[in-house]
Amino acid sequence: IEFDGFANAPDLDYAELANRENAARAIDQVGNNLGQTYQPIINGNTVTAENFVDSLNPSKSEQVVGKIGLASIEQADQAIAAAKQAFPAWKKMSATDRGEILRRAADLMEQQRAELSAWIVWEVGKPVREADAEVSEAIDFCRYYAKEMERLAQPQYRHVPGEDNTYIYQPRGIALVISPWNFPLAIAMGMSVAAIAAGNTVILKPAEQASVIGAKIAEVLIAAGLPAGVFNYLPGKGSQVGAHLVKHPDVHLIAFTGSQEVGCNIYAEAAILRTGQKHLKRVIAEMGGKNGMIIDESSDLDQAVVGVVKSAFGYAGQKCSACSRAIVVASIYDPFIARLVEATRSLVVGDATAPDTKVGPVIDGSAQAKIRSYIAKGHETGKVALEMPAPEHGFYVGPTIVTDVAPDGVLAQEEIFGPVLAVIKAENFDQALAIANNTPYALTGGLYSRTPSHIKRAYQEFEVGNLYINRSITGALVDRHPFGGFKLSGVGSKAGGPDYLLQFLEPRAITENT
Ligand code: SER
Repeated sequence: IEFDGFANAPDLDYAELANRENAARAIDQVGNNLGQTYQPIINGNTVTAENFVDSLNPSKSEQVVGKIGLASIEQADQAIAAAKQAFPAWKKMSATDRGEILRRAADLMEQQRAELSAWIVWEVGKPVREADAEVSEAIDFCRYYAKEMERLAQPQYRHVPGEDNTYIYQPRGIALVISPWNFPLAIAMGMSVAAIAAGNTVILKPAEQASVIGAKIAEVLIAAGLPAGVFNYLPGKGSQVGAHLVKHPDVHLIAFTGSQEVGCNIYAEAAILRTGQKHLKRVIAEMGGKNGMIIDESSDLDQAVVGVVKSAFGYAGQKCSACSRAIVVASIYDPFIARLVEATRSLVVGDATAPDTKVGPVIDGSAQAKIRSYIAKGHETGKVALEMPAPEHGFYVGPTIVTDVAPDGVLAQEEIFGPVLAVIKAENFDQALAIANNTPYALTGGLYSRTPSHIKRAYQEFEVGNLYINRSITGALVDRHPFGGFKLSGVGSKAGGPDYLLQFLEPRAITENT
């Protein structure tokens, strides 16, 4: 299938002094506005919460980025009522009119690009270049899904003598969006605007650690002209408000991105028919990965080292697409590791607000403790070739490389979600491919090779949703690289791809005897 020329929003070029100065200014300005209160927004109105939680700056964990009002169960029910009331009119609006609002939201994000990036830097500790790329992705999702819905809104006709057939799509109803902290703008916006473009109404329950960005999404969508009730912002505890909404009989679909444990739980809970429920819920769940990159004997090591370092340590390894296993063929194993360790050592680890930082903190104290426990296991079971020091006042973990990891060992099988890379030795390409496929996940994967037969086999046999050859394995672009996996990496089709919106719609066939 040929793609039809969707233009991705370009990232800022930080080689330009003006862009660097502008970014620094926005980071300072946002830094002067930390500690404000953010409350739930239901039916276009800000409501008052009783309980609050602090969203902290992972780079300096004593700093409060925002005070988040946690929605109560009653407020969750009010949000459902608002979304239900707004649905009929929103469903009736044309795809083009709905799309216009989303395109306005995209334009607003272009205008607020530096400020939005700065909030991402402060709230989730993502260095500014990667934060900026996330803003581009959020913009792309708005424009892409608006365009996709215009395509799907065209009825398909099939006429035979005496019979007219029409095939159309209609929205499902209320979409519950449960979004992660690691792409707090792009993924939360992407899942929400997919539902909205398709004519559903939305309740967004953002990750607790990224609720300020969730409020920024609400600001953008409201400023773009979204009618009250079509989008409701409901920060809260996943275990309370999230669990209540997953079980709610009026929710039609759940779009989730996050951990495998939570995703599997949502899938199971959503399958239970509740009292008063007249439909089955659709679940779209994008979960984890244990992504491997194969480096074979014919690979260009200059490229491979750069690609693995970027894939493993970008955003401190906290992308579901990140490389967490480098599977290296024996004949180049030692030179590859020597170069990988030196290249990694050159990364600047520090506060995400500093312009030269390449690896910032991890998201919170419990993530830090969990990642450190995996590093301890690395010391017990493998050889720690590099464990970089990291600043103390924040949730930092220095980039770590563990070599001689057994393919079935904990470090090679469990998702760590931090800057820890397991290196596994394979005798040859065949064995490398078998090792790469030997996990319950199938999200991203990579191959560095200049052997055409190996590349061909990877096309056919490397079991991942997104396979990248001779490049890094993160940073999927909307439309060009529809993103998502299978096996235990998730259920549902690819974000930013041609099948995604179908999950938010019900198809109908109408046959008229003429
Ligand atoms: N879509 C992101 C990437 O490709 C991960 O969620 O890196």
